[in-house]
Amino acid sequence: MRGNRVEILSKMFVLVTMMMATMVKPISLNYSDALTKSILFFEGQRSGPLPPSQRMKWRKDSGLSDGYDIDMDMIGGYYDAGDNVKFHFPMAFTTTILAWSVIEFGDLMGPDLQHAIEAIRWGTDYFLKATKISNIVVAQVGDPISDHNCWERPEDMDTSRQIYFVSRDRPGSEVSAEIAAALASSSIALNKINYLYSRVLLDRAKMVFDFANNYRGSYNDSIGDGACPFYCDIDGYMDELVWAAAWLYKASNDQSYWNFVKSNMQFIRTIDDFGWDSKDAGINVLVSQWVMKDPSNQNPFIPNAENFICNLLPNSPNKTVTYSKGGLLFIPGPSNMQHVASYSFLLIVYASYMEANHKILNCGNVVVKAYDLVNLTKTQVDYVLGNNPLGMSYMVGYGKKYPQKIHHRGSINPSIDVYPKHIGCRDGDKYFQSQAPNINVLTGAIVGGPADDDSFQDSRLNVSQSEPTTYINAPFVGVLAYFKELNST
Ligand SMILES: *[C@@H]1O[C@H](CO)[C@@H](O)[C@H](O)[C@H]1NC(C)=O
Ligand SMILES: *[C@@H]1O[C@H](CO)[C@@H](O)[C@H](O)[C@H]1NC(C)=O
Ligand SMILES: *[C@@H]1O[C@H](CO)[C@@H](O)[C@H](O)[C@H]1NC(C)=O
Ligand SMILES: *[C@@H]1O[C@H](CO)[C@@H](O)[C@H](O)[C@H]1NC(C)=O
Repeated sequence: MRGNRVEILSKMFVLVTMMMATMVKPISLNYSDALTKSILFFEGQRSGPLPPSQRMKWRKDSGLSDGYDIDMDMIGGYYDAGDNVKFHFPMAFTTTILAWSVIEFGDLMGPDLQHAIEAIRWGTDYFLKATKISNIVVAQVGDPISDHNCWERPEDMDTSRQIYFVSRDRPGSEVSAEIAAALASSSIALNKINYLYSRVLLDRAKMVFDFANNYRGSYNDSIGDGACPFYCDIDGYMDELVWAAAWLYKASNDQSYWNFVKSNMQFIRTIDDFGWDSKDAGINVLVSQWVMKDPSNQNPFIPNAENFICNLLPNSPNKTVTYSKGGLLFIPGPSNMQHVASYSFLLIVYASYMEANHKILNCGNVVVKAYDLVNLTKTQVDYVLGNNPLGMSYMVGYGKKYPQKIHHRGSINPSIDVYPKHIGCRDGDKYFQSQAPNINVLTGAIVGGPADDDSFQDSRLNVSQSEPTTYINAPFVGVLAYFKELNST
């Protein structure tokens, strides 16, 4: 499999070199540097006491009494984006994808593997706290309305740190099942490094899955305006239950989880979506790994995964998505880069499975090889890193030209080092409104990205364009590890 991958990449390298000779010279990209930075970003999103190994130095301890008002230790975890709320639904998805990135491409990460593992553990240590009491799952920490009304550094937070939890009477199957998926996938990613910890994660994943499955309901209803309209589960919770079961099967080999997956596929509504809300395309790609060799179990996973791919490929007769003139994939809705990231990740994972099985697929009369998936992904990654009409990198701190005014509370306000005094609820407004670049560089943060005409405002007001999120970065960690090999071939 490694051999194949190297071969594809060297073919591509020759091609890129030829293209560079004949076309306007694209910016030369350093995927290795981008990978390092994509993982570093997670240190900027940390909540809780920061360890001595913390490299993003302008961030300090925060959220040190989260949970204390209800006698729970809910210290730690990640702020999901530019605010200071700990939304466990997208945080769990982020952790699942970091784990999947390490499972598939950890062997390509070199010295960054250690940091990727730390990033996973920052999530799983916290989820062990959130699921410590049986039949209770803490679903969120921090009242989003109170948080969003202030423009404060996480280190200064004095907004409501309300704890939202789900229980047997007020269930939340999507948030609980996604946490189970995060724990199960992480148990695989960490298995070789820390076997005992990995066992703890797997046991907890099973327990949390049972809770999610036995007491069904949406956290939309149970925690109400904590969830909606912020991370409202529009897609329903069946996809998270099936996704979690697929990860549990991969982690434990327990047939009952596989039976659960097969008998509940009928409830999966779409094939073409993948992100913090919908796990649909991810389920099919994940399961493809073990059914590709087994003709009796391919339905509906392989046809669904192939449909997903055929809907994306630019030269496929089945293409349903759009690309900008500059070549970036666009899916309607806010923060387009989240789709670019998660779809790129699935493309590169599926390409790896195709390579391993010497498989091709057909989109109508077009024959598609693993190489075509890799090529499409590369056009997306290269766009993100600067090969686009604006010559703009959408990763902060990478390349010569990158977003300066990202929508992020920690990055905009001065750091504690520079300004040790408390910055109150609205005292950060003057930094938000200033025309000056953000004071702290949130290295590695990938923002929501340009408009579909390839323009970019670099404005804190345009949240959809200028806000980074953990679930944009997480899939890129895996994708960048894959392309890192391009630099070394
Ligand atoms: C969650 O809430 C949204 C908006 O109220 C709704 O459209 C969706 O169906 C809800 N999801 C579930 C699983 O109830
Ligand atoms: C793609 O479209 C063709 C018709 O153009 C159809 O026959 C085929 O089933 C589709 N294939 C996939 C994988 O969607
Ligand atoms: C790679 O993808 C780009 C964008 O879709 C396309 O223009 C180009 O022809 C592809 N190259 C190859 C060799 O398939
Ligand atoms: C923000 O950017 C999006 C496209 O990325 C655009 O549609 C929208 O109009 C912009 N919003 C503002 C307030 O300028």
